[in-house]
Order: sequence, then structure tokens, then C-alpha cells
Amino acid sequence: MQQGFSDSILITGAASGIGLATAYHLAELGAARLILVDRHPASLAETDSGRPSSVLTGDVGDPDFWAGVDLAGVRGAVINAGIAGVGRLTDLSFDDWRRVIATNLDGAFLSLQAALRGMREGGSIVCVASAASFKAEEGIGAYAASKAGLLQLARVAAKESAARGIRVNVIAPGGVETPMWESPQFDARVAEVGRDAAFNEIAAHATPLGRFNKPEEIARQIAFLLSNETCGNVTGSVFVSDGGYLL
Ligand code: NAI
Repeated sequence: MQQGFSDSILITGAASGIGLATAYHLAELGAARLILVDRHPASLAETDSGRPSSVLTGDVGDPDFWAGVDLAGVRGAVINAGIAGVGRLTDLSFDDWRRVIATNLDGAFLSLQAALRGMREGGSIVCVASAASFKAEEGIGAYAASKAGLLQLARVAAKESAARGIRVNVIAPGGVETPMWESPQFDARVAEVGRDAAFNEIAAHATPLGRFNKPEEIARQIAFLLSNETCGNVTGSVFVSDGGYLL
């Protein structure tokens, strides 16, 4: 068991994709207790792999939800819940802008604040940003702004929390093979060529290594950053896993 996983760890967006893979991986590593947050928690029932866990249903962007969550003594946090959002700036409605910011930035702020308030000395937080925190693409204004904001929010949190021995780091994946990519067009392509090939086709456009990340790879990177054994002197850093997309 890696140091730092013997206490409770919060994971937001834990019912799918990266969050779900992280929950399984941290349980395998021996996390004593997982606090799993999602607004759609259906698939969380078996996530704990026999480990004690709390499943909390709520919207991370809702301050009233966090007011009822007790994180006293939490030792780790994975600020992961997020949604995609597409639309060119000239077409994007204010409601669509707000929908993305409400989860990806307001939700990250509220999750991070709740975790920091309850966290004990020596704790560790990983925020899941994106390669879109750095790279501009057409049609992702709200998403990219939310992830750029999260990146800097985490860096400020790292500076503010250092005196308490709390580390805050960021992971910035390129594409990850999760349900976030599902759409009628993508699902039709999966039916034609299979899931891996459909993802590889998207990756082929701009990812030099030619493939997306598996959620399990990102989960292992999150565990690496969370651990005081491997990264005890790492804070405010950004780990990019993007197959060379940012090159
Ligand atoms: P996903 O769609 O598979 O999982 C996201 C989970 O977050 C879902 O279970 C969903 O119910 C939950 N969630 C969404 N909004 C919520 C809210 N307001 N309150 C509570 N729960 C909420 O997506 P994925 O890919 O696992 O995404 C996880 C994080 O990784 C997100 O922050 C995303 O932006 C980020 N990311 C994903 C990439 C990808 O290519 N899939 C690439 C880079 C970053």
C-alpha cells in the first residue's frame, strides 16, 4: 500500500470514466475509505471492491450539496467531475456557457474548498484539468476556459495550502476513452469499426502517438500524484498525458 492511501479519499465524478477507474484503482491500492460523489451514482454500488465507501448523490456545482458533506479528516481528493461542451463563441448560448462553467469551474471550486477545509496535514489533492487548459481549438470556448481556470485555481490552492503540508497538483490529459465522447455520430462509428478503432480515428487527427489514453492509465497517474511516497515534494505541478497532442 502506498503512503497516504490509508485514510479516506474523496473522488468527484466517480460513477464513470476516469473517476470510476480511479475509484477501482485506489481501492486496489488499499484506500481505507472512498467518498464517491456523482450526480448519477448508479454504477458506484460495486466500486469499493470490498472497501468501505460512502456514495453521495449530488451536483458538485451546488453549494447546498457541499454544505451537507462532512469531509473532516479526509486525506486525499480527486477533483474530477466535469462535462464536455461544444459550440463556437458566436453561437454559444449563455445557458450553455453557464452549464459548463457551473460544473467544471464552480463545481471544482466548491469541491476543492470543501476538501481543503476538511483535509488534515499531509493531505494531497489532484485536479483533473485537460490539454484544453493550454491548447485552443475551435468550438470549445466554454470547456477550455473552464479547464484553464481550474489549472490556475489549483496552483493558487497549492500555494495557499503548502504551509499545512497539503499538496495540490493537476493532471491534464489529452483524449481519454470515456463515455464523455459518446454521441450519435461516434456511437455509429463504434458500431462500424469497434470502440478502439473509433477512438484511434479521432486521435489520428492531432495526436502524434496515435491513440487516446485509457481511463486506467489516468487513474494510475492520479494515484502517483496523490501518493506522498512518490510525489511528497511535488505541488502546483501539471502532469500532461496527451500522446504528444500539445507538441
Ligand atoms: P465521464 O462523462 O465518463 O464521467 C464524468 C462523471 O462526472 C460522470 O459520472 C458524471 O455523472 C459526473 N458529473 C458530471 N457533472 C457532474 C456534476 N455537476 N456533479 C456531479 N457529478 C457530475 O467523463 P470523463 O472523461 O471520465 O471525465 C472526467 C474528467 O476528465 C472531466 O473533468 C473531464 O473534463 C476530464 N477530461 C476528460 C477527457 C476525455 O477525453 N474524456 C480529456 C481531458 C480531461
